[in-house]
Amino acid sequence: MLEVKDLEVRYGRLTALRGVNLSIKEGEIACIVGPNGAGKSTTLLAISSVLTPTAGSISFAGRQINGTRPEDVARLGISQVPEGRHIFTSLSVEENLRVGTATRSDKEEMKRDYDRVIETFPILGERRRQSAGKLSGGEQQMLAIGRALMTNPRFMTIDEPSLGLAPKIVDRVYEVLIDLREKRGLTLLIVEQSSERALKAADTLYVLRNGTIQLTGNAADLQDGKAVHKAYFGFSEDHEGEVMI
Ligand SMILES: Nc1ncnc2c1ncn2[C@@H]1O[C@H](COP(=O)(O)OP(=O)(O)OP(=O)(O)O)[C@@H](O)[C@H]1O
Ligand SMILES: [Mg+2]
Repeated sequence: MLEVKDLEVRYGRLTALRGVNLSIKEGEIACIVGPNGAGKSTTLLAISSVLTPTAGSISFAGRQINGTRPEDVARLGISQVPEGRHIFTSLSVEENLRVGTATRSDKEEMKRDYDRVIETFPILGERRRQSAGKLSGGEQQMLAIGRALMTNPRFMTIDEPSLGLAPKIVDRVYEVLIDLREKRGLTLLIVEQSSERALKAADTLYVLRNGTIQLTGNAADLQDGKAVHKAYFGFSEDHEGEVMI
């Protein structure tokens, strides 16, 4: 469904990504894990066409999308939950959900999308008139996911959904994400710093470090975490002590 080939992104003289390849099948949950500054967010921003790659190609459902405007990428069915959620805390929950739909003219479909989001997250319906700043961190994450669902996407990218949340709330967020795949057939690309969480949720795992993919594999084959650890840190667990000193 999404093919990324030899992707390179630069910020001025800094090459943030080089030679990144991803191949994500319809209906799967793919996770990218990697340390701070690895290029995880940059990868997602390039897929959403917020950033323009300096080399490589991105295709979605068989169609090349690099160079497409971000709003047109959204129209093709790709939606994003950005790093840090970007909730408008002074706006109501409902206003947050409707942000970005102002230019849509298909009022009936918009209502259907809104109703579906409320059906998925009843709490957002109950709190629709409350200011979003009053929601808990977990609820704000649900709101950010709900907002991304407002365009009725087929493919969703989520940047660090666990950030700042208690483990129990993270469990709940992942239940929701897995449910979206089961019930809506959504294809998901999730970015995480923690490989543990990603290993539990993913079908396919990518480890990104220093702007390059160090490891690609079926999460089922990587459960012992050894290969992931080595790819993530650049050295194996056995040598961790020596290297740390
Ligand atoms: N707007 C920018 N201008 C210049 N350099 C940037 C910009 N955004 C990111 N970078 C640099 O590009 C590299 C990759 O950053 P990116 O934000 O993609 O990493 P990340 O894996 O998402 O990290 P984190 O886990 O901290 O969110 C880093 O070296 C970062 O400092
Ligand atoms: Mg990031």
